[in-house]
Amino acid sequence: MSTETLLLAPDTTGFARAAELLRAGALVAMPTETVYGLAGDARNDRAVAEIFAAKGRPRFNPLIVHLPSLEAVEEIAVVSDAARAIAERFWPGPLTLVLPLRADSGLSELVTAGHDTVAIRLPAHPVARALLKAFGGPIAAPSANPSGKISPTTAQHVLDGLSGKIAAVLDGGPCEVGVESTILSLDPPALLRPGGIAAEELEAVLGAPLPIGGDASKPNAPGQLKSHYAPGAAVRLEAVQPRPDEIWIGFGADCAGADLNLSPAGDVTEAASNLFAMLREGDAMARRRGAATLAFAPIPETGLGRAINDRLRRAAAPRD
Ligand code: TXA
Ligand code: MG
Repeated sequence: MSTETLLLAPDTTGFARAAELLRAGALVAMPTETVYGLAGDARNDRAVAEIFAAKGRPRFNPLIVHLPSLEAVEEIAVVSDAARAIAERFWPGPLTLVLPLRADSGLSELVTAGHDTVAIRLPAHPVARALLKAFGGPIAAPSANPSGKISPTTAQHVLDGLSGKIAAVLDGGPCEVGVESTILSLDPPALLRPGGIAAEELEAVLGAPLPIGGDASKPNAPGQLKSHYAPGAAVRLEAVQPRPDEIWIGFGADCAGADLNLSPAGDVTEAASNLFAMLREGDAMARRRGAATLAFAPIPETGLGRAINDRLRRAAAPRD
């Protein structure tokens, strides 16, 4: 379906219009502190089906449900004591918890892809929170990009990928964290996706090393990873210097001459916030200069570096 995508300001009028669109089953992209999400009413089968259609996302890949409060979470999922302790420490924020789904959750089955668990997150971004309040129900929201492409961290990124396919975008400026939420399952704890909360922080609260679970348990060799976050150009990792005809994306002070630098100061948190925008910018440079490859300097595997390296390995993975 082709419609003109509205750009809404993050004010009372914009929130009311966005909430009205959600109630009508339409899709609205909203900023969160991680990336922009493609929001739809999580109780409405038609709206959720539209999310999958707009992204070209396989239906077996379940969505994250966004909620305003722990009370709202308890209406949808079973919250154990362990889950509550983590939730109280890290919510609202860039953490998603996978919890047992309640039989009377009221969610569309498409959201959970038929699983008996549900991924839930309480975003901290004031615009996402204002929309949750104005809408008054659970919001299903994957990242607001065509499936397999680079996640959006500005309203313009959303329009670049989904203009004409969604009703509106709430413009909240650039996302602060810049990589998607960390996904944690509990009983027993396992890291399903590294993201905006460093695994070290979770381990400090859990009091034990966090094993890797789910998809992330596949070996971290690019050949075994599914392609995602793919720019047009090829991606080369651990590039201590560029080869001729490469766009070099640096990290830290040792990358003089880099075309772009994720963080000249060598700060992984700053690098995460720049990652997706620089993937896009590097890709545009490559197109202009006829370069075939984006070469990324090594990023330390600590703090948000783990999420950055995860995304870069997927960006470098062979494409279908
Ligand atoms: O930061 C974020 O998490 C962003 C913002 C918009 O909230 N959302 C996001 O959604 O990254 P998406 O759809 O791009 O990624 C959701 C991930 C998928 O990898 C999916 O497989 C996983 O969450 N997921 C959803 N439900 C799950 C479940 N019940 N068990 C395990 N993984 C689940
Ligand atoms: Mg995504």
